[in-house]
Amino acid sequence: MTWNRRHLLTLEELSVAEIEQIHTVATAFKKVLGRSVKKIPALRGKTIVNLFLEPSTRTRMAFDMAAKRLSADVISFDAASSSTTKGETLRDTAENIAALGADMIVIRHNCAGSPLYLSNILDIPVINAGDGSHEHPTQGLLDTFTMRERLGPDLRGRRVVILGDILFSRVARSNIHALVKFGADLTLCGPSTLVPRSLEGLGVKVSHDLRSALADAEVVMLLRIQHERQTATMFPSLGEYTSMFGLNSTRASWLSPKAIIMHPGPINRGVEIDSDLADGDRSVILDQVTNGIAVRMACLFLCAGGNPASVTAGE
Ligand code: CP
Repeated sequence: MTWNRRHLLTLEELSVAEIEQIHTVATAFKKVLGRSVKKIPALRGKTIVNLFLEPSTRTRMAFDMAAKRLSADVISFDAASSSTTKGETLRDTAENIAALGADMIVIRHNCAGSPLYLSNILDIPVINAGDGSHEHPTQGLLDTFTMRERLGPDLRGRRVVILGDILFSRVARSNIHALVKFGADLTLCGPSTLVPRSLEGLGVKVSHDLRSALADAEVVMLLRIQHERQTATMFPSLGEYTSMFGLNSTRASWLSPKAIIMHPGPINRGVEIDSDLADGDRSVILDQVTNGIAVRMACLFLCAGGNPASVTAGE
């Protein structure tokens, strides 16, 4: 198939074929990252601006590295020293960045829909790097890429559990859209205040019973509690959350013996996951981070109009 999107805004709108195409291109780029010279000239002469208006470690650095590996020029917007502190709007900021000659904008913002908004007013591709509690499509792409790498390409019927603060999680929402499209057997688990039954409408199971949710699961993805997005008290205390839903070695023994443990980061060690599991043999948390570079290279390359056939011959 041929990629024909300019923007990457959500996983909700992508087809399985489009997700698979991103993964195929990412597989080719992952091989490039394993060479001694980790760089190709695919986006030479292009300028990519990382417009991050919320904190980030992994996503911003992975987009930065991905653009550099494709030979693009990269400018990272520093929100704290920018004119947004003087009241400049998102629209004015983005239009000025485009007027300065940017060829693509990668945006992270606390308002759901802000990437869509920019895609409607700018003439350049817009990539969503996380918008409020809505979506984090490149995280969902790198997570499913990592699952397919570990479990095999066909995720149909594979038992996946996402555990934690689902309600406020853009990572959960993007993964739910991708995993439902792939036909995975997906269960969302956590306290009823953070995992409401209404989520079953997305085509997933909802469980508030950790033992039955984890039983024989092949993947467990932990999510941190998103205090910054919660406007009410969703559970009595962090200690109580950990005692009910934190992943420890006893609870991990309920998983399938070959199960993998995932987390998008940042981790709150000792809250949603014990350190021995985060750092243990079954953890693929740092593989997720590494895969994030190749997956984001694929997203930048395709949205810039790159020809997938030029990099995937032999995949
Ligand atoms: N997973 C993720 O989005 O991490 P950052 O917030 O550090 O980018």
